[in-house]
Amino acid sequence: MLKTRITEILGIRYPILQGGMAWITGWQMAAAVCEAGGLGTIAAATMEPQELIEGIKKIREVTEMPFAINIPLRLPTARRAVEIAVGEQVPVIVSSAGDPLLYAEKIKRQGIKLFQVAFSVDMVRRCNQSGVDGIIAMGAEGGGNISRAEISTLVLVREVVNETDLPVVAAGGICDGKGLAAALALGAEGIQMGTGFLATREATVHERYKQAILDAIDTDTVVTGRTTGLQFRVRKNSLSEKVLGMEREGRSREEIDSFTIGSLKEAAVKGDTDWGSLMMGQVACMIRDIRPVSEMLDHIVSSAIDEIRALGRYIS
Ligand SMILES: Cc1cc2nc3c(=O)[nH]c(=O)nc-3n(C[C@H](O)[C@H](O)[C@H](O)COP(=O)(O)O)c2cc1C
Repeated sequence: MLKTRITEILGIRYPILQGGMAWITGWQMAAAVCEAGGLGTIAAATMEPQELIEGIKKIREVTEMPFAINIPLRLPTARRAVEIAVGEQVPVIVSSAGDPLLYAEKIKRQGIKLFQVAFSVDMVRRCNQSGVDGIIAMGAEGGGNISRAEISTLVLVREVVNETDLPVVAAGGICDGKGLAAALALGAEGIQMGTGFLATREATVHERYKQAILDAIDTDTVVTGRTTGLQFRVRKNSLSEKVLGMEREGRSREEIDSFTIGSLKEAAVKGDTDWGSLMMGQVACMIRDIRPVSEMLDHIVSSAIDEIRALGRYIS
């Protein structure tokens, strides 16, 4: 078994967090992860308040394990989502895309565990001041919204570990035991995965989206939004080509946003893999089958332990 400050603080069996994914990770997916030994996360980003309240109620009905609510702080839905999560006394909040100082005091006063996603070291300094319980260092290999500087996980995790005494979770480009073992070697005490969880039986994402992950090769993802400052890693398709074309023409962020608004829902819920936003990480190229969550997590942890033991062969 692997025991780290992450398993201890969160009270979970495996040091594995399921990343919140807007339109995709509701209570069903999160509950499956909690029951399998990881930390399941409900993504609040695109939920109406009532849907979030219902989701919290439902997850509590089906699991007694701790779970998290992910709240991207830059979105207009954030304030209400924080109020709901605090009012409902959820076990964990994972804040992302914004300043952790905004709500940290309110959250911590209620005894709720708070983790913040960091793309760079500036954010780590904010985390150190804000009383968060841990930092999720997400590198640019990851799917969805990524950092402007596009710092890779290999560099970012080490940099973050050097800047804080808080436990660090590595995210971006991890889907297996070798990835978990590597993250631990870098000084992280757990991993967060997004893309890997999309390729599971329990993932409530359209089947065509899952297939697009299975079919992806290493050169299939691309970063859009470099000219507008809101970068996303997605699988190449007609939408990504169109957006990159608009960027080359120098179109404004407003024009591009108005063209892409709702496009993740089109892909994730309606299965439009051509004109929907197919957010996924580079690691999609290593995912070749759809598995039950519990099988995937058991396998990741047991193979990480094997990997760590096997590394002893290099010591003479
Ligand atoms: C489809 C998709 C949607 C995502 N939505 C969110 C979100 O709503 N909030 C957030 O903090 N991160 C979001 N992410 C990032 C994930 O939570 C996670 O950190 C990331 O996927 C890890 O990298 P990986 O894809 O290489 O595993 C999303 C990622 C994907 C692939």
